[in-house]
Amino acid sequence: MNSRFPDGFVFGTATSAYQIEGAWNEDGKGPSIWDTFSQTPGRVHDDVPGDVAVDHYHRWRDDVALMRELGIPAYRFSLSWPRLLPDGTGRVNEKGVAFYDRLIDELLASGIEPNVTLYHWDLPQALEDRGGWPEPDVADWFAEYAALAFERFGDRVPRWSTLNEPIALWVGYGLGVFAPGRRDPLAGKQAMHNALVAHGRAVREFRAAGSPGEIGIVLDIWQRHPATDSEADRAIARRDEEDGFRFFLDALFAGGYGAAMRERLAAEGSMPVIRDGDLELAREPIDYLGLNVYSRVVVSAEHYNPRWWEASDAHPGGNFLANGMEFYPEALYDATRMVREEYGVRLPLYVTENGMSTVDERVVDGRVRDEERIRYVRGFLEQALRAIDDGVDLRGYYVWSLLDNYEWAAGFSQRFGIVHVDPVTLERTPKDSALWYRDVIARRGL
Ligand code: FCB
Repeated sequence: MNSRFPDGFVFGTATSAYQIEGAWNEDGKGPSIWDTFSQTPGRVHDDVPGDVAVDHYHRWRDDVALMRELGIPAYRFSLSWPRLLPDGTGRVNEKGVAFYDRLIDELLASGIEPNVTLYHWDLPQALEDRGGWPEPDVADWFAEYAALAFERFGDRVPRWSTLNEPIALWVGYGLGVFAPGRRDPLAGKQAMHNALVAHGRAVREFRAAGSPGEIGIVLDIWQRHPATDSEADRAIARRDEEDGFRFFLDALFAGGYGAAMRERLAAEGSMPVIRDGDLELAREPIDYLGLNVYSRVVVSAEHYNPRWWEASDAHPGGNFLANGMEFYPEALYDATRMVREEYGVRLPLYVTENGMSTVDERVVDGRVRDEERIRYVRGFLEQALRAIDDGVDLRGYYVWSLLDNYEWAAGFSQRFGIVHVDPVTLERTPKDSALWYRDVIARRGL
């Protein structure tokens, strides 16, 4: 197998607005559903809200400089919708526009390619108050926001994505574990469907704006492997894959939701309303597909826990990391093959996120020795090379995350950065994994 990545292969790091920016109510920003949620007692770990996060809103220049020093060629980040449109629609907050203008210009001046996500989970609270993602008007709201972003930044951004992991809408509206904390399966599935429609609307806005870059969507793929060959285990694996990611792949690439899934959702009372034109919008042609891949899930009827991510010991498998997640780098290879073989996807693929969390890293003598993270990333990069070797059109890899940051409902308890952030001073220290990644990038190989 080739041990070097092809020329043009993009190496990057990824973050999202709510997880790093802070400044939740500064310079005219409106609140998002994550502000409301994390400020509500009992919703997030230790009741620590993301108000300050890691203060990137004020430290962005240093963070870009750090990436430049580490030789990182590409940076995937998201725009905060309520920073640009405090009420979700209508009035533009020019100070918010100026923030992203400066950030994008600084990245370009530093030789770092910006990859911009429109939606990474922080819906303006004003739009939640009007019904949020389960409300069909959300497609209009999102199209307006997308058009603004393309108008203001489209000339300088080579790669866009509409949505990051729309499955988070299920966690927010169906399960109530993420913002906005609603627990209504039908609303959850309707939100997921509306998100695909909104995605298609944004893609059309992008084409209409004549923006020079490319646009795609980012899905996370946790393939389910039945623990045994029993019909019960296989049925769970099938169902959980449908609910987890095939819902989106079916609509994007197979012309609509599969018949078996539709029947099941109808029986469960959570089949969303599909309006005329929705499915055409969902399959609007895109330029690439982003895959977030962290691991797989082994499912067994005997140990079944629908909230597997909260109880890693409740699912079988092996080779667990200290954080309880299974180390299964083949997940990357498998995901690229699955979209190709089962959905006929021939688009360029990017691994838009991959990384692992730790809980108790310390800076000792200026260093953070995160050997396990190096082993993890190396394992996944090996599988990326394997996929490329097998003819998969894999164009890039973004490690999650540049910085230790605010990990949603887990607050600051899960730390994914290749750069350590001191919990009190917010001082940044590259971990050993960042220095190792710098060397991998410099030699374009492992
Ligand atoms: C992904 C999210 C990202 C981060 C990582 C750990 O699912 O897109 O924001 O939470 O997981």
